[in-house]
Amino acid sequence: MNNKLQCIVTDGQGIDNLALVEKPEPAALSDNDVLVEVRAVSLNYRDLLVAKGLYGGAYDPAIIACSDMSGTVLETGSKVTNLKPGNKVINSSFHTWLSGKMNSEKIRKFVGGLGVDGVLIEKLVYPASALVKLPEHMSFEEGSTLTIAGLTAWAAVMTHGNVQPGEWLLVHGTGGVSIFGAQIAQLAGAKVILTTSSDQKAKLVKERLGIKHIVDYRNEDWPRQVRDITAGAGVDVVVEIAGGETLARSIKACNYSARIGVIGILDDTYSKFKLFDVITKQISLRGIFMESTEELNTLARFCEKNQLQPWIDKLFPFDKTVEAYKYLESQKHIGKVLIEL
Ligand SMILES: NC(=O)c1ccc[n+]([C@@H]2O[C@H](COP(=O)([O-])OP(=O)(O)OC[C@H]3O[C@@H](n4cnc5c(N)ncnc54)[C@H](OP(=O)(O)O)[C@@H]3O)[C@@H](O)[C@H]2O)c1
Repeated sequence: MNNKLQCIVTDGQGIDNLALVEKPEPAALSDNDVLVEVRAVSLNYRDLLVAKGLYGGAYDPAIIACSDMSGTVLETGSKVTNLKPGNKVINSSFHTWLSGKMNSEKIRKFVGGLGVDGVLIEKLVYPASALVKLPEHMSFEEGSTLTIAGLTAWAAVMTHGNVQPGEWLLVHGTGGVSIFGAQIAQLAGAKVILTTSSDQKAKLVKERLGIKHIVDYRNEDWPRQVRDITAGAGVDVVVEIAGGETLARSIKACNYSARIGVIGILDDTYSKFKLFDVITKQISLRGIFMESTEELNTLARFCEKNQLQPWIDKLFPFDKTVEAYKYLESQKHIGKVLIEL
């Protein structure tokens, strides 16, 4: 019997240092944990930061990489009541953020970074309370994309953005979070404007998602184009994944009472903008750092009800993890890049 598990570890010293190693099978399960056979792992921009030492520095010992997975429950601890062997699940990336607000204790249990082992391993012990049933219509690959990208978009568009039918929503780029943001907003009845730097991606997004309004964010005047599209009013909700100068421009593209979900830093970690615009237009800026397991479950059920199909760009086998990271880094993808186990 093989009692070793294969996994990929990162030491935070570069993508080329990702290494395949073996770990012992877990011993007896604790009362509230389950053993999951991992089937698919979804990559996020954060995994690049972790691997490059830009998310907590170098790790010694190296940690198991990645934070988003789907799989099948193999065994349950004696006090687990919400799951049974055979259930298909996805994970919340926080072990203990079950519901309500984030706090300094919950944030430390963010898997796949800051010294906490991740999920890129054949079998995984996880708290049952931090797992959610895979949407019935989704494959393992599709479901694994909800943990971070799907949930972050959900938090910005629905939980905190509270987008309403007929409102305008702005997303930047065609990466994992933004594509989910566009899909969720469309299902909620909002009108979507997407920015991208690629004509080819614009064409594909138009064809597949039916997004009519696409502008090029390399053109510094894009906020004026966005205001023109909205007949001068501006957008009501922004999924802001870029920060920096892009955030300053997003503010210029906003309507009165707009809600901006501040999510990412692809442009820059610092941003300089005119407070006068925020004040007079009464714009809310809300930092987003995923959401709780309860919200992940709400998202999963929303996807089921609306038959949402996540956009999967490319699947890589387990032994091609370095290539998968490099492909994500190249930003040639639309939506999500995955690793299959
Ligand atoms: N706070 C949170 O909870 C949270 C959760 C998830 C992600 N994030 C952050 O959100 C950001 C996006 O993450 P992701 O996983 O969706 O990334 P991703 O899939 O790697 O998305 C990359 C895409 O973003 C677009 N992009 C790159 N630079 C841009 C810029 N300066 N302005 C506008 N768009 C730009 C490009 O789209 P085009 O090729 O179409 O131009 C690029 O292909 C990252 O900073 C990540 O760390 C935060």
